[in-house]
Amino acid sequence: MIIAVPKENLPEERRVALVPDSIQKLPKGDIIIQSGAGQLAGYHDKQYIEAGARIEKDLKSLYSIADVILKINPPSSSEIEMFRRGATLISFLNPLSNQAILKGLASHNINAFAMDLIPRISRTQSMDALSSQSNIAGYKAVLLAAEKSQKVFPMMMTAAGTIPPARVFVIGAGVAGLQAIATAKRLGAVVEAYDVRPVVREQVESLGAKFVELKLESNDVETTGGYAKSQSAEFYQRQQKLLEEHAQSSDVIITTALVAGRKAPILLTEQAINKMKPGSVIVDLAAEQGGNCELTEPGNIVVKNDVIIIGLTNLPSTMAREASNMYSRNIVSFVLSITREGAIQFDKDDVLISSSLVVYNGDIVNPSISSAMEKPN
Ligand code: NAI
Repeated sequence: MIIAVPKENLPEERRVALVPDSIQKLPKGDIIIQSGAGQLAGYHDKQYIEAGARIEKDLKSLYSIADVILKINPPSSSEIEMFRRGATLISFLNPLSNQAILKGLASHNINAFAMDLIPRISRTQSMDALSSQSNIAGYKAVLLAAEKSQKVFPMMMTAAGTIPPARVFVIGAGVAGLQAIATAKRLGAVVEAYDVRPVVREQVESLGAKFVELKLESNDVETTGGYAKSQSAEFYQRQQKLLEEHAQSSDVIITTALVAGRKAPILLTEQAINKMKPGSVIVDLAAEQGGNCELTEPGNIVVKNDVIIIGLTNLPSTMAREASNMYSRNIVSFVLSITREGAIQFDKDDVLISSSLVVYNGDIVNPSISSAMEKPN
């Protein structure tokens, strides 16, 4: 089995899907790395060679012989053209937003597993790349906020007077939110958090933060998989009103609220931002899905009514070395779990495979993705 790792080709992407440390852990076979693939994450060709891989300069040649391609970002249509027919791609695919890519993979007869569809069950925790990358994003969000904020995070008692700690409010206490809470606490801030799913209260409190209760009625907030469900327009309007009141007392707000397969809900309106203290900072980790804040500009940092709104996307790439190390461990663990006797298995009785396999033998085989694709927009 020939496993190939290209250099990621999105602008500003610094991560690499496989780090040298992981090479010996993969099933036996040839591992070929595109020259320079790990450079921006701090890994040079020499380290890959020492770990037992081969280096290939030309992407076309790399793809033309690969049985398995390991990537982070979904492939471009020109990459798909280069893949060898019958090869298997393992990558984030963001399948609901990338239907043309899925169709391209199917028509080129490429089999594709989506790292973002790995089920979140106990035996797959080591493969959970959504969580590993969200952890990095949550951590980095707090550092960005601390850097832009004019408030010192910890309480400081000095001869020049006592500085009260910064007040950080985290909205959405999933994986990224919990890491943001932990990081802000470590920096000494007073941290509050809110999530539409009341079950996370205990997790928030165990990190030493206060769980903010909003007077909102809904019995149906969580899927069986532990994700938030979409709510009615009235629910979101009421939520915006209540969050508006709470936003005024925060120096920093970090928003992470996502609903799978949908645009991120707007939780902070322009009106709420206008009521915030001058110099306050919002980090909108949902920017890539449109943002939780009405004034977020995805990919940019903007100042609106003296409030700094950070809508930077792909924060894991800004910590490329650690993010790559974690992703690499996730993807190796996944490859090992779906390989038997040197070949990838497509056994749909295995929930890991049936959940994450999106394209197989020229068809889109994942029922949840194909049914979403059939629905008109
Ligand atoms: P996510 O990235 O889809 O969403 C982030 C957070 O936003 C979630 O906690 C969600 O409840 C919250 N949210 C959505 N709409 C909201 C709204 N209107 N207001 C406030 N908050 C809102 O979720 P993520 O971080 O990927 O994981 C969510 C959950 O998945 C975890 O808390 C856990 O229960 C489960 N999980 C399980 C794992 C396992 O190994 N069993 C691993 C990782 C996550």
